[in-house]
Amino acid sequence: MSGEYKGIIFDLDGVITETSEYHYQSWQRMADEEGLEFNREINENLRGVSRRRSLEIILNGKDLSEEEMKRLMDKKNGYYQEYLKDMDENDMLPGAQELINDALDKGFKLAIASSSKNAKTVISALKIRDLFETISDGHSVENPKPAPDLFLFTAEKLRLSSEQCIVFEDAEAGIDAANAANMLSVGIGPEDRVGHADFRFDKVKDVDLEIILKGEN
Ligand code: BG6
Ligand code: MG
Repeated sequence: MSGEYKGIIFDLDGVITETSEYHYQSWQRMADEEGLEFNREINENLRGVSRRRSLEIILNGKDLSEEEMKRLMDKKNGYYQEYLKDMDENDMLPGAQELINDALDKGFKLAIASSSKNAKTVISALKIRDLFETISDGHSVENPKPAPDLFLFTAEKLRLSSEQCIVFEDAEAGIDAANAANMLSVGIGPEDRVGHADFRFDKVKDVDLEIILKGEN
């Protein structure tokens, strides 16, 4: 075990698996049916944020009753869960399993911290539950990313301080949350999305733990 880092906290959607495309397709279908403006560009702002906040972004200031909000969120979630039924262990992103294995070999404690209320279903479809000490999801804390709460909660479950944790995230809101939690942030994705991370790689398969641990950014 090298250095001061002892834990790695992984975001799920967009880091371990490509469910972000399923989230997008489900929002698009709901929006088309409801006559709401939505496209891939708007979708970029939805990465990593909660279901409710995602709908608020799509509504763009349009005021709906709580009942109507719930109907639209349920509709999107129903479509999303249809995609999840077909998921299996082949749906890991390229390089994700290797990164997890490398982190375990190096002696890190691993956790998942996802904004999704469907995280446990996804993890069980991927058959990766046993690799992680703890799973935090959309039910774990009140304040979603970009608030630091989910990562702080997860570090506590790992019995580690913020300074001992490295976070892997594909979302702007997720990097904001990791930085606010005082953890080492590693962004997966383009500069304009995760350029504010301590380290950045284009894809999960490009991640090199050695580079991160040596502090060569
Ligand atoms: C995040 C995704 O992991 O979970 C977001 O990046 C999604 O796109 C959020 O909106 C909430 O997911 P769910 O499954 O609770 O609707
Ligand atoms: Mg994500």
